[in-house]
Amino acid sequence: MPPKPLKLLRMRQNEDYEEYVKNLLDGKGTLNLSGIRVEITMDMIRRESQTLGSGGFGNVYETNYEGIVFARKEIKIPSQVSKEEMHRYLRELDVTRQCKACPFVVKFYGYYIYRVVCEYNFYIFMEKVPFSAAFMIEKMLKIGKEIPEFVLGRIACSVVHALRFLKDALQIIHRDVKPPNILMDYDGRVKLCDLGICAKLENSTAFSRAGSYPYMAPERFKEGYDDRSDVWSLGVSLVELAELKNPYTTNGNQLQHLIEAIGSHPSPTLNPKIFSDCLVMFISQLLQHDVKNRPKYAQIEQLEFFVLHDLPFTYIGTGKSPKKDQERQSVGKWIDENLLSGSN
Ligand SMILES: Nc1ncnc2c1ncn2[C@@H]1O[C@H](COP(=O)(O)OP(=O)(O)O)[C@@H](O)[C@H]1O
Ligand SMILES: [Mg+2]
Repeated sequence: MPPKPLKLLRMRQNEDYEEYVKNLLDGKGTLNLSGIRVEITMDMIRRESQTLGSGGFGNVYETNYEGIVFARKEIKIPSQVSKEEMHRYLRELDVTRQCKACPFVVKFYGYYIYRVVCEYNFYIFMEKVPFSAAFMIEKMLKIGKEIPEFVLGRIACSVVHALRFLKDALQIIHRDVKPPNILMDYDGRVKLCDLGICAKLENSTAFSRAGSYPYMAPERFKEGYDDRSDVWSLGVSLVELAELKNPYTTNGNQLQHLIEAIGSHPSPTLNPKIFSDCLVMFISQLLQHDVKNRPKYAQIEQLEFFVLHDLPFTYIGTGKSPKKDQERQSVGKWIDENLLSGSN
């Protein structure tokens, strides 16, 4: 069943909005750790802990409660921010919370906000997912190996499920699909994270340029765009995972060059002598330069590479599909042998 519509996003035009934001800001959160409810304490917030990652907006730390390990994203918001900006920060919280029904998005446990002199400290608690796809690339470069196609397949299908959920259930697009925001656990379950700049589609279109340039679809530099710009970013991310380098950052990172390359060069492709026909064709579809030719999620789900590697939403090994059971186990085994071994 799809989750209820986003309360916060709907509230925007509504006079209850101020009240809603005020309640959020006063919120003394509780954590729901897979059924166990605990009050969030200052100790959980302040505890020095291992950094799991950092991005343009926040730092993410490992934290724990009585041995249960989870992740804490910290965002500092200046207290004089405009209502619109505050709305953008709170949207990440709201959307992550609404994604609880989707196993392909990082699971939300709770949040906490408090105000210090001139800023709000904002914490989002979520499940800890040990590896990012960016880490996988680094690790493969270090050990001189490639990421096999069945792992690429698992990533591709899971991200498509996550993006389709965002689009169909919440009418939003992610806008920052890239390897650092794609996470994988020890059993090979893939989860999309970082809903910080996702956008509500108004009449199916969004406009702003928020996001990471090397992954941006050509149409994002020109006009309004829709969910198919996330499809492009997934295509670029998969090429990067397959070749262990981003196809758009080889000639330096200058913004003007990048915009030119994305806008007017032919889309990146994978070498058919190295990769299977169905992966090469999958990538060429995701990276259709003209957005009108780029497939939507329902069409992507029909492509051979997707069908070959997809494990349905709630797949548990049943023995009825030995090939899928085998693939499911193989991803876990690949992680054991490649991501866990040696120095990280
Ligand atoms: N739940 C999580 N478990 C483990 N690592 C995470 C988790 N969420 C984020 N990270 C890591 O932290 C990095 C920054 O988090 P992210 O939410 O992307 O912040 P930003 O909005 O600043 O980009 C991610 O790229 C990822 O490597
Ligand atoms: Mg990020």
